[in-house]
Amino acid sequence: MSSTSAPPHCDDWERSTWRTSTRRKLLRWFERNARELPWRSDPKPYHVWVSEIMLQQTQVATVLPYYKRWLKSFPSITALAEADEAELMRHWEGLGYYRRVRSMHAAAKKIVTEHDGEFPLRYEEVLALPGIGRYTAGAILSISTDAKLPILEGNTQRVFSRLIGLREHPMEKRANALLWDFATRMLPRSGSGTFNQAAMELGALVCQPKPQCDQCPLVSQCNAAELGLQTEIPGKIKKVRYEDRHEFAFVIRRKKASQAEYLVRPLPDGERWAGLWDFPRPTHLPTKTVEEAAEWLGTQLGVDVGIGPRIQTLKHAVTKYRIRLDVHDATLAKPCPRPPGPWSWANLETLKSLPLSTTGRKIADSIESETQPMLPAMHAD
Ligand code: ADE
Ligand code: SF4
Repeated sequence: MSSTSAPPHCDDWERSTWRTSTRRKLLRWFERNARELPWRSDPKPYHVWVSEIMLQQTQVATVLPYYKRWLKSFPSITALAEADEAELMRHWEGLGYYRRVRSMHAAAKKIVTEHDGEFPLRYEEVLALPGIGRYTAGAILSISTDAKLPILEGNTQRVFSRLIGLREHPMEKRANALLWDFATRMLPRSGSGTFNQAAMELGALVCQPKPQCDQCPLVSQCNAAELGLQTEIPGKIKKVRYEDRHEFAFVIRRKKASQAEYLVRPLPDGERWAGLWDFPRPTHLPTKTVEEAAEWLGTQLGVDVGIGPRIQTLKHAVTKYRIRLDVHDATLAKPCPRPPGPWSWANLETLKSLPLSTTGRKIADSIESETQPMLPAMHAD
């Protein structure tokens, strides 16, 4: 981990005494401050499911009337499965993100056909339901059956990142894995559902985007509060600054025993895509014009290169470069049966089996589709 450029986060949490005391303070706070929410009084899987789906992208206060109306009209999974989609939509109007409703409807039908209308309690089966990912599955099962499963959503991402002083954006690969790990290790032996709700509740009521650290039960364990980094954490998305580049490649063909062959080479070590094969294309130095690129190739082969028409333009991105690649037909001033060094001639069959660079493959594919005669259309009898 020392090779990454991200500043180190705090590793106090790797001590079990830190986790125990943080957990205890959070749970004590939750006992006194938990909001009374309708799905909390009777946390059946169906109830928690409906609430969690509604709470995705939507505040608790907005959700409350919708939740009550929904359960009145669709009191069970079977009732939901049998409901008319337009009727469901009417109950959702104003909540937005309507895909959530269609997924729930599909999931309810699946639960009726595959699980006799009973919400499945095995994690894998829950994850297999439409619209339910790792977070929602963990929330439903931990809150309704106290399964020991972690959760990570907007609130907990913010709370956990601040506690451990994690400065990267919570969706960055390494940061996200670390947060899931933290969420898992923080779970108590029993009472995971309560712990998960407490962490979300702290994020919703205290550790808000503008946090109220003076009211926070965890202020003495919080790395962000200690270092005054609350506004920096959670970190912002790093915008990749692309640099535009214009590059050139050539398709040079010759006839060999009535077959076309194309000039290719393996890309040299130490360069982009080293070891993969490609059509002639300067990769080690910037060439500003197609003439410069042709000149480079001529020097490589010891033969002048004539530039033909542009046959294709490919756009792609490599690391920080946004590349526009112009592919030109080109000819050699004289035959070159034994090209020097790594260069060689390859027919379409060989191109198929060579490991080509991404753009090399695209060029080969378009050559092939131009060369292949169209199959005669089949006619119906
Ligand atoms: N936000 C999403 N789910 C929640 C829950 N179960 N409790 C509090 N806030 C939430
Ligand atoms: Fe959030 Fe402040 Fe509490 Fe830290 S001390 S968890 S930043 S509210």
